[in-house]
Amino acid sequence: MRVLVVGSGGREHALCWALAASPLLTALFAAPGNPGIAGLATCAPIAATDIAALVAYAQANAIDLVFPGPEAPLAAGLADAMDAAGIPCCGPTAAAARLESSKAFTKTICDEAGIPTAAWERFDSAAAARDFVRRRGAPIVVKADGLAAGKGVVVAATEADALAAIDTIMTDRSLGEAGASVVIEECLVGEEISFFALCDGTNAIPLGVAQDHKRVGDGDTGPNTGGMGAYSPVAAFPPTADAAIMDRIIRPALAAMAARGTPFRGILFAGLMLTADGAKLIEFNVRFGDPECQVLLLRLKSDLLAALLAACEGELAQFDLRWHDHAAIAVVLAARGYPNAPERGSELRGLDAAAAQPGVHVFHAGTARDAAGRLVAAGGRVANVCATGPDLATARARAYAAIAAIDWPEGFYRQDIGART
Ligand code: AMP
Ligand code: GLY
Repeated sequence: MRVLVVGSGGREHALCWALAASPLLTALFAAPGNPGIAGLATCAPIAATDIAALVAYAQANAIDLVFPGPEAPLAAGLADAMDAAGIPCCGPTAAAARLESSKAFTKTICDEAGIPTAAWERFDSAAAARDFVRRRGAPIVVKADGLAAGKGVVVAATEADALAAIDTIMTDRSLGEAGASVVIEECLVGEEISFFALCDGTNAIPLGVAQDHKRVGDGDTGPNTGGMGAYSPVAAFPPTADAAIMDRIIRPALAAMAARGTPFRGILFAGLMLTADGAKLIEFNVRFGDPECQVLLLRLKSDLLAALLAACEGELAQFDLRWHDHAAIAVVLAARGYPNAPERGSELRGLDAAAAQPGVHVFHAGTARDAAGRLVAAGGRVANVCATGPDLATARARAYAAIAAIDWPEGFYRQDIGART
């Protein structure tokens, strides 16, 4: 099989690493890829959202399967375009990708399908939103309804904080028109986890659970990021809990999407809060998480490519995956200034020495080669130092020992990934 991976982050490097191990693989391509991926795949300089160029490239290279990493190409119709060209693509159509691109759509699906989620209401007027907050009290969550690049959510501990958030988002329009209306939600309390399932439109199989660390600083401080580290398995979520999430959240969502004529194929990522009343959905994403993907794939024993093919062929009902018992961790190395203004261009040394340590894998994210061939920072999240071990403490110690072998004074990382358990 000739496979094309779309994207350029640590998630896509890990996907290429797992696909490269498949006995079914004959040739691996990535668009646009990164210098780490270039060691495993032929990289084409095509942007992940350039749908027409990706289809032309897949046709020219006789690609048998496309796997998109990020959500943007899916929301832009990559899977629809590949379907039209007769090329199997393991990702949702744009219509099915609305599970990530629209908060209100997801809440509607939850209501239709009886999926447990935070109680919510949407308001177009600041006065009505303020009244609601005064009636409900704190804690409470205020969200800009539109896309706000992760800046639109305020988890308000006090009524005053919630009222201030309404003023900032709706009256001052701090996020522009994304704040023309707000969604106000019940505040869920508990451990937050990322649950993944592989879906074929009708059937789904669990792909594991990881815990992300979204804040930039140690102790969950500072601004939200794409994710500063992850680990799996998660002690707060025993493997026996998979079945309940599949039955109460994943399969009802699949059934609702199929009933609308927009069946969901690909990776369904449920952001869950493990509350005292059971798991509740915070949000869906229509792709693997980054860096969650890295730790899940380090635990997968079965052939990833065979599973993706089965999803494209509607054959997941008969499919089963095997997992290693070991723990896996990913620590993100980020460029100073991330997430607001990461500094680019500084040289990274010692990645190979780190990767040579026992149980350690280094995945590239925002790296590039400069004119002299040096490896330099070219993004916010620059590399992932990952490790496996018989337990999380061992995996964690291995990852941090490997980081010590890396010479990159312009970078930083969280010291406490996986430490809370
Ligand atoms: P979202 O953009 O909806 O993923 O929200 C960003 C973050 O805000 C989530 O990862 C949660 O940590 C937090 N959050 C969102 N909704 C809620 C909620 N209803 N209760 C508590 N925390 C929430
Ligand atoms: N790490 C969270 C995400 O990929 O959305």
